[in-house]
Amino acid sequence: MPEHTDLTVLLRSLRGVWDEVAVDELDHALQSAARALDDGADDELVLAAALHDIAHSPLLPAGPAHDVLARDWLTPRYGERVGWLAGAHVAAKRYLAATCADYRLSATSEHSLRLQGGAAVDPAFVNHPWWPDALRLRRYDDAAKQPGAAAVSVAEVLALARRVHTARESGRGRAP
Ligand SMILES: [Fe+2]
Repeated sequence: MPEHTDLTVLLRSLRGVWDEVAVDELDHALQSAARALDDGADDELVLAAALHDIAHSPLLPAGPAHDVLARDWLTPRYGERVGWLAGAHVAAKRYLAATCADYRLSATSEHSLRLQGGAAVDPAFVNHPWWPDALRLRRYDDAAKQPGAAAVSVAEVLALARRVHTARESGRGRAP
């Protein structure tokens, strides 16, 4: 199916892309999904965790903010919830930085937080019905920066994407 061929190519294009210092973007994606599975997340949340930084692929346009591009790329393919959750990972970081005294970020995320406007509680974020899951995703994201940590495989992400796609086709995707 072409959608999944696209996803395979995009995921593999993250190998050797270094946004963080400790892991490349493919390992970051695969570790994020593993942390979500460890937490008992549902398929859509695991998929959003895996693909929240897909916009760092050199195959996607460089212009838009990476959270916005993730949302816009994912929503038509895997549904509104996957797109929203992935797109909310910056708003979730800003929220946690504003409200959790013990919230710690990597040096890279600390730097990007400043560029993204700093710590803040966005009313549009905290009033959204899915925002608790966006906070869960952000915790997976922050934990997925350890060289050699447990990770899922690319094949597992693709199988997950197929399940989400199939559930959506059959009308079982979640409404907001
Ligand atoms: Fe990330």
